[in-house]
Amino acid sequence: MNFKSVFLAVFAGTALIVAALLVNARRPAVERNEPTPALAEATGKCAECHRRETSAIVVEYEQSRHAQKGVNCLDCHHAIEGQPSVEHKGFVIARALTSKNCAQCHATEYDQFARSRHAAPSWASVNGPKDFSPDQLAFGERYHPTWVNRAPMSIGALEGASAVTSGCNACHAIGKPNADGSFGTCTNCHSRHLSSVELAREPATCGQCHMGPDHSQLEIYGESKHGALFAAQRPHMNLRADPKRLTTVDMPVPTCATCHMSGLEGMKVTHDTTERLSWFLFAPVSTKRPGYERGQTDMKELCLKCHTRPRIDEFYVRAEDVVVATNNKVKATTAVVATLRKDGFLTPQPFDESIEFDEFDLWHYYGRTAKHGAFMGGADFVQWHGNYELLRNQVAIDEEAARLRASRVAPDAGAARPAPIAPPAPTAR
Ligand code: HEC
Ligand code: HEC
Ligand code: HEC
Ligand code: HEC
Ligand code: HEC
Ligand code: HEC
Ligand code: HEC
Ligand code: HEC
Repeated sequence: MNFKSVFLAVFAGTALIVAALLVNARRPAVERNEPTPALAEATGKCAECHRRETSAIVVEYEQSRHAQKGVNCLDCHHAIEGQPSVEHKGFVIARALTSKNCAQCHATEYDQFARSRHAAPSWASVNGPKDFSPDQLAFGERYHPTWVNRAPMSIGALEGASAVTSGCNACHAIGKPNADGSFGTCTNCHSRHLSSVELAREPATCGQCHMGPDHSQLEIYGESKHGALFAAQRPHMNLRADPKRLTTVDMPVPTCATCHMSGLEGMKVTHDTTERLSWFLFAPVSTKRPGYERGQTDMKELCLKCHTRPRIDEFYVRAEDVVVATNNKVKATTAVVATLRKDGFLTPQPFDESIEFDEFDLWHYYGRTAKHGAFMGGADFVQWHGNYELLRNQVAIDEEAARLRASRVAPDAGAARPAPIAPPAPTAR
């Protein structure tokens, strides 16, 4: 390379750098990842330092309604009554935040959330009543009698602590009793720093927990006409619309949030996701909820913003037929297993014999899926993932029961457990 070409190369390189700097200076502060003057004023040293330490947090905060309205880092991060605090870079901040920090400014949302099944019953289902203070227990039992002061589902103890901590409780901590007296967290749906309504209206947000064979709401929704239309029309929808003024112009197609929470066209927004329900669909044998009439009236009021009365009434009649039919199938099969246990062919302990897993799958996977599919428009879940599997499992359990009875004499009550039995036919899932 001669002198002239080296000079040209250096010159061109320098010119590029200078040009890049000039362009960069003209980009808005946000794009340069520097605090805007307004942000710096609102959040002071927290944002300045955390822009270097954990930049994504500041970027997300900056996109939030909170940043626009001047709600700053310390408004959330300062310790309130009942919360331990720590010294932090010249500030005092709470060691951990809960829904109580949000409730300072959003008391209505908190009160609705706290009386929903997302709060106390959710934690008790996995962990029983041991983590609740007497006040929290009394509060939960007032809204959900017998659902908080109860034994946890036994499967958690059998799987062990690490499975419960990183599995069950990752979902069920939405209602964890906090040491400061409050329940749960708001950030599962809104995230910590975006504090977004748009995010909460996305099916995938609810689907973090509401998925899989035991509560396949996300998959059912995806299959439904609503879900297919939402996927196609997503770019035309205004998911950021103010909840107090949400209309079908913003969202002509419902998501999970619309049906279970939104205040569409004059209805009230609710953080009590229990309010619009009429059946305990998750139960082995479904019964009507105490608020059956009201739950159905409220949900139908919502459907009627977009549909006509005769179609919705017919839809509910058909869905309730599926509930009744599923109840009968589940009752018939659980009776077979209960009789085996009574006659001494099974130990009293849960989940130590394979037929007990078949029985559990019968209602927990297939029965639930059939019922949920019927109410949320998932035909494949009513049929192939639901009723077909119910039939197959019922046959497998009947066969197994006959085999057990034929192969051994029932041991005396209280005697040692019978010899291990052959595993059941593999079930497809
Ligand atoms: C001088 C820099 C600096 C300032 C000012 C600062 N922080 Fe931090 N902050 C840090 C560093 C460094 C960490 C630890 C990061 C790590 O461990 O990866 C941290 C951690 C945190 C954590 C996590 C604590 C934990 O135990 O998990 C929170 C919450 C936090 N800061 C909030 C704030 C808030 C709110 C303010 C303003 C009131 C603030 N910070 C001011 C530097 C700072
Ligand atoms: C709307 C309330 C709110 C605001 C405003 C807010 N935070 Fe947070 N922040 C939270 C919550 C909730 C958590 C989760 C805390 C927990 O798990 O204990 C959190 C967590 C954090 C963490 C730990 C994150 C991690 O994953 O380790 C840092 C650091 C932090 N915030 C810094 C900030 C800074 C800096 C600001 C201002 C720019 C800010 N926060 C504004 C609610 C808020
Ligand atoms: C210091 C008071 C304060 C605290 C603490 C606070 N917020 Fe807010 N929040 C506000 C204000 C003010 C608004 C804007 C209301 C408006 O636009 O009318 C808002 C708006 C919101 C919105 C609506 C956002 C939108 O896009 O319309 C959500 C969701 C929200 N907050 C969630 C939370 C959560 C979750 C927490 C706790 C982690 C929290 N807030 C803590 C004051 C607060
Ligand atoms: C972090 C996990 C999690 C997220 C995210 C979540 N849920 Fe739930 N949800 C649960 C759990 C756990 C239960 C079961 C509570 C119980 O009955 O014990 C539940 C129950 C429900 C119920 C039934 C309530 C009842 O009374 O039986 C509805 C409806 C519901 N959720 C709707 C939603 C919607 C809509 C969203 C999104 C906007 C959502 N959930 C997001 C975990 C979650
Ligand atoms: C992926 C998230 C997730 C995991 C992991 C999870 N659950 Fe759930 N669980 C849910 C959701 C969502 C519901 C609500 C189902 C419905 O209403 O249709 C639920 C419902 C329940 C219910 C019925 C509601 C009630 O209050 O009685 C029990 C019991 C339960 N779960 C126990 C457990 C146990 C025990 C584990 C771990 C062995 C576990 N769950 C793991 C999300 C989860
Ligand atoms: C199960 C998911 C979920 C949880 C948990 C949740 N929210 Fe929401 N939140 C939503 C949805 C969805 C909306 C928007 C409803 C709509 O479509 O109009 C919303 C809206 C809001 C709004 C705006 C309301 C308005 O009328 O402008 C605030 C404020 C808010 N939530 C705060 C909270 C607080 C505080 C908590 C915790 C106590 C919380 N949320 C817990 C899903 C959730
Ligand atoms: C078109 C409205 C609609 C949409 C969209 C919708 N649901 Fe539902 N959902 C219903 C109806 C109706 C029921 C049954 C109500 C009853 O019990 O009367 C139901 C039941 C449920 C239940 C069952 C509670 C139980 O008793 O086991 C949960 C949990 C739930 N929905 C969550 C979701 C989630 C998560 C999504 C999104 C992935 C969603 N729903 C989408 C209308 C809807
Ligand atoms: C925000 C408006 C909206 C709400 C609320 C709503 N739907 Fe829909 N629904 C639609 C749209 C749009 C379609 C697609 C209609 C088409 O095919 O053009 C649809 C389709 C359906 C279909 C399929 C119709 C068919 O023949 O394929 C059923 C069933 C249905 N909805 C039931 C319900 C029920 C039950 C509720 C209340 C629990 C409800 N919807 C709430 C907008 C809504």
